[in-house]
Order: sequence, then C-alpha cells, then structure tokens
Amino acid sequence: MSSQQQAAQSASTLQSVPSYLNKDDLGPWGNYLRQVDRVAPYLGSLSRWLETLKRPKRILIVDVPIELDNGTVAHFEGYRVQHNVSRGPGKGGVRYHQDVTLSEVMALSAWMSVKNAAVNVPYGGAKGGIRVDPRTLSRGELERVTRRYTSEIGIIIGPNTDIPAPDVNTNEQIMAWMMDTYSMNQGQTATGVVTGKPIALGGSLGRREATGRGVFVVASEAARRIGVDIEGARIAVQGFGNVGGIAARLFQEAGSKLVAVQDHTGSLYKSTGIDAVALADYVAKNGGVGGFPEADAVTNEEFWTVESDILIPAALENQITEKNAGKIKTKIVVEGANGPTTTAADDILHDRGILVIPDVVANAGGVTVSYFEWVQDFSSFFWTEDEINQRLERVMREAFAAVWQVSSEQKVSVRTAAFIVACKRILEARELRGLYP
Ligand SMILES: NC(=O)c1ccc[n+]([C@@H]2O[C@H](COP(=O)([O-])OP(=O)(O)OC[C@H]3O[C@@H](n4cnc5c(N)ncnc54)[C@H](O)[C@@H]3O)[C@@H](O)[C@H]2O)c1
Repeated sequence: MSSQQQAAQSASTLQSVPSYLNKDDLGPWGNYLRQVDRVAPYLGSLSRWLETLKRPKRILIVDVPIELDNGTVAHFEGYRVQHNVSRGPGKGGVRYHQDVTLSEVMALSAWMSVKNAAVNVPYGGAKGGIRVDPRTLSRGELERVTRRYTSEIGIIIGPNTDIPAPDVNTNEQIMAWMMDTYSMNQGQTATGVVTGKPIALGGSLGRREATGRGVFVVASEAARRIGVDIEGARIAVQGFGNVGGIAARLFQEAGSKLVAVQDHTGSLYKSTGIDAVALADYVAKNGGVGGFPEADAVTNEEFWTVESDILIPAALENQITEKNAGKIKTKIVVEGANGPTTTAADDILHDRGILVIPDVVANAGGVTVSYFEWVQDFSSFFWTEDEINQRLERVMREAFAAVWQVSSEQKVSVRTAAFIVACKRILEARELRGLYP
C-alpha cells in the first residue's frame, strides 16, 4: 500500500472514532478499525455500508455494587456492547478481568460479528465484561457480582436479543447464575439466555471443548495445505485455560509435541514434549503452569523465541506485537485468543512468510457449539456428543475452506479473506433490511 493510501486509511479510521474513546490510544478498537479498513477495497458496492461496522449499535455501561464478605461495599464497572445485529441476535462472551476496558469490549463485540458471519451462524456480535479480578473474590462475592451485573444488563439481553457466554475467567457456574438471575427477573426459566451452561441446565455436550477442538481442526486444515504434518509437529501454546489447554491435549492425541507453554504464572519448555494431560492436572491444583516439575522454566521472553511448527496464542489480546513478531520461529500462528496479534505484528509475520490463521475463524468453534446449544434449548431436544463434534468439524472445515479460497484468489492474508467473507455477509443483510425508519 502506498504512503498516500495509508494516510487516507488512517484518516478514515480517525473519522469514525467516537468521542468517548481516547483518539491517541484507541486500544483494541483501533486494531479492529484497521482490520476493517483493509477489507474496504474488496466490498464492491457494499462498501457504502462500511461505517456500520465502525460503530457499535449499542453500548451499555453499568455500575455493579456488591457487599463484600467483610461488610464493605465495592463497585465494579460492567459493560455490554452489541456491535451489530443485522444477521440475528447479539452473541458473545462475558469477560471478568481487572484490565477490561470499553475499547476492548467494543473490539471483542465487533470480532464476534465478524466471526459469526465468517462461520455463517445466524447471530450478530456482542460482548460483555466486568473490571474485576475474580481471583480476589470469594465464591459468594463472585456470585453477587454476577447476579447484579446480569440484572443490570437484563434490559438488553435475552434468548432472542443477545445471548452471553463464557470468556476469560468466566465459566459454567457463572453462566448458571446468569441464567437463574435472568429467569427469576422474567418469572420463567429461560435456558436460552446464555450458552456454555452446565449440562444439567440445558448446556450442550462438547461445548467446553468446542473452542479448543475448533482450533485443532482449523490448524490441521491449515497445516495440511502448507505441507506440515500434525504428527510430530512442535506446538507452542500461550494460555493454558479452556482454549489452550484443550487444544494442546487434542494435538497431543494426534501425535504432536507440546514443546512450550506460557500462562500468567510463567513459561515452560521441553524439547521432547510436555504432557498436556499431566499439566492440566497440575494447573487445576496449582492455578497455573508455573513450577510444573516435568519441564524447564524459561523466561516469558524466551517463550516467544522457541522453535515450533504451530504457535497458538490462547490467552489475551495484543500478545504478538512489533517487539516479539520478528523473533517468532514458527510456520503457522493459529489465533485461539481474540485479537492476540497487532496489525503491525501481523504485517511482520506476513513478510516473514509465517501463515496466520485469524481468531475470527480459528476460535469460532466455541460460538458454533453455543449456537447448537441455543438451538437445542429452543427445541428442548438434545444431541449426542458425536453429533455435535461431527457438525462442529463440518462447520469449521467448510468455513476454513471458503476463507482459504478467497485468500488464494484475491492474494490477501487469511485474515483479510475472513473479513471479506464475513463483512460481505453482514453488509448484505444490512442492505437487504434497509435503514429503519
Ligand atoms: N472459552 C471460549 O469458548 C473462547 C471462545 C473464543 C475465544 N476465546 C478466547 O480465547 C482466549 C482464552 O480464553 P479461555 O476461555 O481459554 O480463558 P481461560 O480463563 O480459561 O484461560 C486464559 C489463559 O490465559 C492465561 N493468561 C492470562 N493472562 C496472561 C498473560 N498476561 N500472559 C500469559 N498468559 C496469560 C491464563 O493463565 C490462562 O491460562 C481469550 O482471548 C478468549 O476471548 C475463548
């Protein structure tokens, strides 16, 4: 791209910046805007609707006050952002993290719009979050935070309007409390208001593993296309939670070697492969990978320089940046996390010939099985785990193949290809529906 085009692009990005964000530090939302700008030249006549994608439809910021166990009152900031609902109700997880920001939740909600369209599930995009470190809360406090937050956002969520799900630091129990709170306020049980619920409350078999399984399926498809054998492949994983932990186990079952792992407690390396099952047991007992005795501890910087065939960032956003992108020694980056690679780092990886499979395709397995869960809840008819896994694999393979084809035909990165496929679907729905009133 010429410097003139680049200047025009950043000018158009800035025009769309809302007054409530810091123009000088847009955070993850700025990253998303740059991704959207890249897709503009490929949208044909639909590009007249592009601004739709640069403005979330609705943002709700709520105060979440709770009484702590010590009798004092604490206040937390909560968000729910509905980015786009042209293709169906909003859908996206809820994150509990002390550093959650509005910019981050906006970007995550937009990536959900793109992801849902990329795998063609009939949802728009939404996301929620609370600025809280759940590790500092007792179980009772966690429940009170969850219930109050759910009540506050209850005015915009619902089985037909916006359906939350788990994300970083939220789990099945939290979904159970959310479902119960919403149901109590409605006066009737509404299982379809959240997904990622416990099986006993209308959850779906296979949901817990779905995102990691999707990462594995997409990574295998990508590897096959560029001639990397999954059997014996060296895998490095950042984040050993739901997504990273499950993906690592599935790779191990397929004969790959987990050579490096990093989480918030430290980084590990073992050239002959870390046992993903033993490590998951250790993490369940100790809260993190740090101190795992059957691998060598390395620094967090060293983790990014480990030689691997597939690197899976599965923790938080903005982990692969200009600082470490030049040192990464891998063939494929498969984004298990949302937004782990900055635009600048994306370009560095591209120039170095490293294939990047973007989050909006790579981690779409979770929302795909969430969609299955929602459908099962509505029909009160539940499928077997085999059925779910087979349907999941089919959706992931087909979505990947469609995006890969656009990437080859248009000679663009897989990320831009995914955005082309998804944005066309969203904007076509936008155009067909027309503007109201
Ligand atoms: N769970 C899902 O179904 C799902 C679906 C799609 C995308 N994602 C995305 O995947 C990512 C991980 O989600 P999850 O559900 O596995 O969360 P999780 O809470 O189960 O695990 C998060 C992991 O990241 C690690 N981590 C946190 N901060 C870190 C840091 N500073 N450095 C290194 N590691 C750090 C944690 O130690 C933990 O291992 C997030 O970006 C999330 O949005 C999750």
